[in-house]
This record gives sequence, structure tokens and C-alpha cells, in this order.
Amino acid sequence: MDFITSCLPPAPARVLDAGCGDGLLADTLRADGYAVTAIDVDPVWARPGIRIADICGFRDGEAYDAVVFSLSLHHVDDLGCALNAAGALLRPSGRLVVDEFAHEAADAAIADRYFGAAGSLPRWREKHRSLHTGTAMLEAVARRFAITSLTRVPYLHRYLEDESLREVESVLGLRLVAERRQESS
Ligand SMILES: C[S@@+](CC[C@H](N)C(=O)[O-])C[C@H]1O[C@@H](n2cnc3c(N)ncnc32)[C@H](O)[C@@H]1O
Repeated sequence: MDFITSCLPPAPARVLDAGCGDGLLADTLRADGYAVTAIDVDPVWARPGIRIADICGFRDGEAYDAVVFSLSLHHVDDLGCALNAAGALLRPSGRLVVDEFAHEAADAAIADRYFGAAGSLPRWREKHRSLHTGTAMLEAVARRFAITSLTRVPYLHRYLEDESLREVESVLGLRLVAERRQESS
């Protein structure tokens, strides 16, 4: 969350949290004074403050200063569609903030640690096969936005709440900030 808050324009900017899940990020940003629209395609998350919508078909009359994908972009069905929608929702020079997971960067040590057994890399690959890779997300963003910042960071320790994992998984996280180009294709 610190990464995302550090990348946003100052409050009270308009922020779209695309694929918000439980809405914790949105609630935090609202408490910080941001005007947040939080959407998720899964009706299980429906509650006040969360709208059930697919980013691909989502439209709004007023442009956003920032669109955030926090661990949601690798889940969308169609990367191009989701990013085109984000581009259309952003004001010119509006900011795309992506905090993601590049599962293809895992090696045997990471897979074995994750499953707690030697020889787990094939199992890891099978488990994540349906998710977009970090490379695919990066390429799809670069085709549509001007990337202003890109970092590879540990990821699994956050998900599994195990700080000791940092030693084996330094590149699984993919964090980028990009700006809307004048023409988004
Ligand atoms: C791993 S969760 C991340 C949730 C939250 N952003 C977080 O950081 O904890 C991914 C979320 O993306 C949502 N999602 C997937 N595809 C989507 C789409 N096309 N439009 C909106 N939400 C989507 C899923 O329903 C899910 O809640």
C-alpha cells in the first residue's frame, strides 16, 4: 500500500481502484482525502463504497487522475481491453499505478519454499498458468502508456505474511508507474 500511496498525485485527486477486492486500499485512500471509485468484477465484494463492474466496460463521466491495479491486472481476462479502458478513464497525463506479481520469475527455490517440497517448480507453473505474466503486463502497458518508473521487488512475503521469504524471492513483484499517452490504442 505504501508504494501506491507514494505514487499518487496529492489528495483530493480522483482515483479509480480497478479490481479492488475487499476495498481496503480504497478505504485507506478515502481516509487520506482521495476521491476513490472502487470497482471489482466479483459480486462477492459488493458493499457500500464498492461498485461491481468489469474494468473493460467501466465508464465514468469525469476523468480520473490515477487508475490503480493492485494485484488485479494479472487476473483480468483481457489485458489490452483493461488497459485501454484505464487509458480512456484517465485525464491526459493521468497516472497508471500497477503493483503486480510476475509469477514467471519464480525459480525452483521459490516454488519449493511456497509448496514446502522439493521439485515443485512444475506445480508452481501449473498453478499460475492461467494468469498473465509480468512480461505480458509490462509489454501491454508499454504499448499504451509512457512508463515513468519500473522496479522489481519481493512479493510473496506480503502475500504469505512471511518476511523470511524476502531472501529467496527478490524479483517476483513488479511495480510500475506510467502516464497516459495523448493517443491510447
Ligand atoms: C488478487 S485480487 C486483488 C484485490 C485487491 N486489489 C488487493 O490488492 O488485495 C484481484 C481482484 O481483481 C478482480 N478482477 C479481476 N478481473 C477484473 C476485471 N476485469 N474488472 C474488475 N475487477 C477484476 C478480482 O475479482 C479480484 O477481486
